[in-house]
Amino acid sequence: MNQPFIPPYPPPHRTRSSFLKRFGRSWTSWIHGLFEKSYTMLMGEIRMPGLHIFIPNELPLIDRVMDEAKNFPKHSLMVEVLEPAIGVSTFTANGEDWEQQRAMINPAFQHTALAKTLPLMADAADALVARITEQLPSSGIIDIDPLMTHVAADIIFRTLFSVPLDAAGSAVIHRRFNRFQRFAQSGSVLRLYGLPTLGFKRRSDREARGIHEVFAPIVEERYRRFHESGEVAHRDILQSLFEAKHPVTGAPFTLQGVMEQIALIFLAGHETSASLMAWGSYLLGECPHVQEAMREETETLTTGGPLTMEALRRMERTRNVVRETLRLYPPVAFLPRDTLCPVTMRDKAINPGDMLVVSPWLIQRNEKNWACPHAFMPERFETAEGQDMLKRAWLPFGKGPRLCVGAGFAQQEAMVVLATLVRRFRVEALADDRPEPVSRLTLRPKDGIRLRLAPRA
Ligand code: HEM
Repeated sequence: MNQPFIPPYPPPHRTRSSFLKRFGRSWTSWIHGLFEKSYTMLMGEIRMPGLHIFIPNELPLIDRVMDEAKNFPKHSLMVEVLEPAIGVSTFTANGEDWEQQRAMINPAFQHTALAKTLPLMADAADALVARITEQLPSSGIIDIDPLMTHVAADIIFRTLFSVPLDAAGSAVIHRRFNRFQRFAQSGSVLRLYGLPTLGFKRRSDREARGIHEVFAPIVEERYRRFHESGEVAHRDILQSLFEAKHPVTGAPFTLQGVMEQIALIFLAGHETSASLMAWGSYLLGECPHVQEAMREETETLTTGGPLTMEALRRMERTRNVVRETLRLYPPVAFLPRDTLCPVTMRDKAINPGDMLVVSPWLIQRNEKNWACPHAFMPERFETAEGQDMLKRAWLPFGKGPRLCVGAGFAQQEAMVVLATLVRRFRVEALADDRPEPVSRLTLRPKDGIRLRLAPRA
């Protein structure tokens, strides 16, 4: 019997740190400010200058906050950070505005149907294998993080625009989004402490707008052609957004409206998936027996051929690796909400204007919900208990009406990419080079994830 592997996470501080220490620890990452009790508490409370924050961790309370999206809308601080990147689009909008935008973008999501996207995911995974083969040095050691950003961005690019993403575009996205997150984190910490943002906000806004350079020319060109001559270049998400109608006024999206929805789908749809696939590759590299079981499963169910929908449906081991990676490293670790009406939760009076933070990171690592919560044990989902907790205490994609639209798509792409990776390479983690997770807008490795890849015969 193999000992369960405990992958890296910041060691929690013994006790709640002082105001100043918390400031320093959160400067680069939210999870670095947590203390031991954060992982067992049912309700946390933090008083900031001008802002009172509550962290409910009891499952019925989580359900309430997530289900009552009208009473607990997305928090204005998060909207402010994301606005330069994605405007006030479906992810950041609230109330009636959100309902109307959601009605407009829903038809576009038929292009993310699983059977329809499998061939393009398989093509993008093959392109990843080709890139690795081309770049692999003789040591076999390679940073998997930018490679996973490229394949995730490539998959969503093909789904949005029907064309692959080139290496230059991928490099811009990886560099700019990393900088955007770093500056946005510092700006948000200063804002939370009631301090001036010292140019961090300006710098993060500039990086966010820079990401648009990668897709703006495609959107503008196709928008112009469609509106001038009705030309339909491809039947894809972009085309569906051109054709979407406002449910009340019947008006289409403006060019800026299309650009914001595209930016949202592009960013929400690749940054998170890249995080999932980078951490998944690392965990497989640490656990050769899990990797081997996954490879065998794929080879058996495909009889050595290409991945099919039928095989994917039956690849339980691979699915459980993806689920367990999302449990340990939820790409969106914190979901901040506003409070509109006074409520009482666990005897705490929560008032309008207070912030509620629902945290997949804490809920999914709380020992009251999961046995050996910090251990990587994909087999836990084979038990009735694991299946029960999957429904109740596993929320990497959120919960309730604001649940992620791309949850099925993201899990399928991770299964395709990770299965392809282990079929083509033996993946090995490096004993003296463990990645460190940092959580800003998303949860990413601080300095990449170096793995040793050996091509299989
Ligand atoms: C591992 C990958 C992914 C993770 C972990 C993830 C996570 C999330 C979470 C947690 C939310 C809800 C946030 C909240 O309640 O505050 C969300 C919303 C959303 N996600 Fe994802 N996501 C992933 C992939 C995708 C993909 C691939 C797409 C698009 C194809 C996508 C599109 C969206 C959209 C449009 C929303 C807003 C839904 C709404 O509010 O109506 N996501 N995602």
